[in-house]
Amino acid sequence: MSYYVVQGGQTLRGSVPISGAKNSVLPILAATLLNGGRNVLHNCPDLRDVRSAIQILEHLGCKVSREGDTVTVDSTVVDRWDVPHELMREMRSSVIFLGPILARCGRARLSLPGGCDIGQRPIDLHLSALRKLGTVIREQGGDILCEASDLQGRDIILSFPSVGATENTLLTATACSGVTRIINAAREPEIADLQEFLRKAGALVSGGGESVITVSGTTPRRDVEHTILPDRIEAATFLCAAAACGGEVTLTGVEPEHVGTVIQCLRDGGCAVRSAGRTITLLAPQRLGSMPTVRTMPYPGFPTDSQAPLMAAACTAQGSALFIETIFENRFRHAAELQRMGADIRISGRTALVTGRALHGASVRSTDLRGGAALVVAALAAQGESRVEALTHIDRGYEHFAEKLTGLGAKIQRRDD
Ligand code: EPZ
Repeated sequence: MSYYVVQGGQTLRGSVPISGAKNSVLPILAATLLNGGRNVLHNCPDLRDVRSAIQILEHLGCKVSREGDTVTVDSTVVDRWDVPHELMREMRSSVIFLGPILARCGRARLSLPGGCDIGQRPIDLHLSALRKLGTVIREQGGDILCEASDLQGRDIILSFPSVGATENTLLTATACSGVTRIINAAREPEIADLQEFLRKAGALVSGGGESVITVSGTTPRRDVEHTILPDRIEAATFLCAAAACGGEVTLTGVEPEHVGTVIQCLRDGGCAVRSAGRTITLLAPQRLGSMPTVRTMPYPGFPTDSQAPLMAAACTAQGSALFIETIFENRFRHAAELQRMGADIRISGRTALVTGRALHGASVRSTDLRGGAALVVAALAAQGESRVEALTHIDRGYEHFAEKLTGLGAKIQRRDD
């Protein structure tokens, strides 16, 4: 089992490149099924979840190759329409393949994605939207069997701006006859990136990144070359690490406006943050000050994925900070591990009250992807040595994490038992 050994107490200095966004490359890899041609994707991070998505594409019949951060998918041949159980279990967000498989093959078979560490993760909004577009869905022994012989576009109102449900509906709608409007769509930047990819393939889509997305059913058939947008959550994680450890850090290859709410919190905590073009520079105070209440919301609100890393920074700050997690029902699991490092965190349902104090090194275990990153942030800021275990969670969403931190002066080493 792999783990990190971290010697805390180092300030972070220097610049760090931000990789392509996991939550953009996954739906775009799924969307490569649509054009039955060649898709060249640049700025693709090499992550566990990306490798799982590539395995699914190869299982379906695609040819996939990687050269550095460029992944090429040839979807000329797609001769299967199921996602194997083990791959669904490996990555629950594989449900994003449902729409494109349906659009390409007219049918799809997936096992119901289970819950995960941060919540039940139901897909009722996905399934109800696809049914309204004409998909016949049966559940059988934990699998969902879908038939879509005659998809008709129509208005789909999402009761919650679910990212995945927006993406699955958008991808299915490309195969509908007529016009589909997705109302109360998710507005995350990854949706606009997916729309950009689809437009290059020839789809007629508009409104991506806004609350109403309009799709005129035309099967996209053009080859695509596309560059994945930068990972705003990785960027937020490094900003929280710099704020917690002190020092001056510049992120390169990033979209500052996608990290605005996190930057505002850190500015409130006394950090000087300036952005220019595709760089963000954060100059941390000697000790982070208290921050206002952090309430996670759908984009453009504060991102739930940045809640854990910011909580880690708040653990060493002056004063108290209140976190309200409104998106997932079980997204404070990292708190118990942070408490092992001396953190003062009081949980009550979906709120966590953090009172800053000095942290000490400890042996801790990642509970989920962003919770694991939070433990690394805290270990970097703690006095003494920490051991962070269960790195498979972190490997899902952070590329070259230890190397990037080492480049900023952190003392962190990956070891295998
Ligand atoms: C995406 O997950 C991201 N994953 C998550 O990032 C992110 O936390 C989340 O959006 C919110 O921003 C990817 O893009 C691969 P949702 P998704 O559907 O699509 C409920 C990370 O750390 N819901 O917007 O699954 C759901 O239970 C990951 O990178 C339903 O009730 O998120 C949750 O409470 C974690 N029914 C809320 O909506 C549904 O059918 C938000 O879920 C769908 C969702």
